[in-house]
Order: sequence, then structure tokens, then C-alpha cells
Amino acid sequence: MALVGIGGRPWIDLAPFVDVGAIASLHDEICLGLVRVPHRYTGGSHRSLQIVPASEPDPPLPDYGEVIAGLSDPQLAILASLGDGRHGPERGVRYGEEGDIPLTMEQMRWLQYRHQVYFPWKVYVELVPSTDWADKANTHNKRFTREAQLYFPRTVQLVRTLPLCAVGSVKILGLHGGDHGTIHRDGDPRDQDAPDTFFTLCPTPDKRLFLWDEDTGERTVITSPAYWFNDHDWHGVLADPGFRYSIRIDGAFEPSFLEKLGAP
Ligand SMILES: [Fe+2]
Repeated sequence: MALVGIGGRPWIDLAPFVDVGAIASLHDEICLGLVRVPHRYTGGSHRSLQIVPASEPDPPLPDYGEVIAGLSDPQLAILASLGDGRHGPERGVRYGEEGDIPLTMEQMRWLQYRHQVYFPWKVYVELVPSTDWADKANTHNKRFTREAQLYFPRTVQLVRTLPLCAVGSVKILGLHGGDHGTIHRDGDPRDQDAPDTFFTLCPTPDKRLFLWDEDTGERTVITSPAYWFNDHDWHGVLADPGFRYSIRIDGAFEPSFLEKLGAP
């Protein structure tokens, strides 16, 4: 499927509408904050969630949905022993992201070490948490965590200056050196009335997110410190040598801001 984009454009540059210098100045706070707060992995099951393109352009690395489905009874018991204590070794249920049984960090590390599961985003911190991915659009009763206010105060402050009526979720998504973000999409464009609205902010320019055109095999790399794309288009992150990250802020754009962008 070709790119759907936003209002006829593949992605929208938000840099002209934000304080780019202020975004860059968050880098020290974020790196130090990431050292101080506990964080989790995310990704790792895009193939079993069936959110990867049919052409499967990424290397076929182990996916935890597939790995868990194939575990022997003793191995499943080990996985359960590393859980939060609320679940036994259950079969026929979905584990992890978008699943019935959330994975603990110990379970994710065991899947990585014992079964070589590939988790693309090894640094995942929710500053404004949401229950699952779709919950990012729900702006009811969403708050910055105590840790966010304590360790990322300038980031919190900057988010509050963005032209949003309400915030649904704020996440820091980081990749270790050498890792790539597997190509996936966050929803099916056929289910979409209008693109979900969000900011991606990049204090440093080294995270290269790209849009994947399944018809042509072309990658459109986004190079801006602040951007918005249609997350129902296929997208991934190129492998690069060092640690890099971005901040994703989901929420309702102010109507006047949407108008300024010329977006639907
Ligand atoms: Fe995504």
C-alpha cells in the first residue's frame, strides 16, 4: 500500500511551530532522567501482532508472540516464574504489548537472552501513561507521573507549551546503538477518519524515522527536530551506531493549529 500521508503530504514538519532551541536543550535532562528512572522494552512482537508489511522488509528476528506460543511446558513455567505473580503458565493468551498478560522486565530480558527475541526499543518511558497503544487518543484524566515531574521537569514544561487542547500520552522511545525499529503501522488506514494527532520531538538529529511505501519499497526519511506523520502508514527507524531517542506526545491539536498546518 502506498503512503496515505496527511492532507496530501507524506509528513508534516512541525519545526516552524515550536521552539527548536528549547527542544535541543532538553537533551542533558533526558539523558540524566533516563539513567534515574526504571524503564522497559517495547516492540518485539510486531509480526505476531500482524502489524508488519506483507513484503517483510526487515530481517526475520525472533518475535516473542511466536516464541511464547512455541515454548515447552518447562520453559513456559520459567517464563511464568519471572512474572508479577498474578498469572501461572497460561497458554492461548496474548502476552505483552496489547495483550492479556503484561510482561515484566525480567520476562523480557529472559526472552531476549534465552530465546534471542529482538526488542527494538530498549528504552521506553511513559511520562503520561496510557493503558494500551489506542489509549493514547483518550485524553480523559491523563497526568504526568511523579517521576516525570521530578526527573524531566523542563520536558514537562515544554510539553505544556505545545498547541494541544489535551494530552493523551507522552513517551520517550529510545533505541540502543545498532538496533533498528522494525517496520510496522500503528493502525489500519481503512479504519481511520483522520490521522491521529501527535508531536514527535527529537532533541538530537540522530534518530532517523522513515516511512515505508509498500508499493515501491521506498523509504522516506524524516529529518526534522519536530514532526507529525500518519502513524497508520508503515514506519520504522534506521539502524545507527549510537543510542538515540525521541519524545512522542499524543493529544488533540488546537483547532487553530490544525488550520495553520492545513491538515484535515
Ligand atoms: Fe509506531
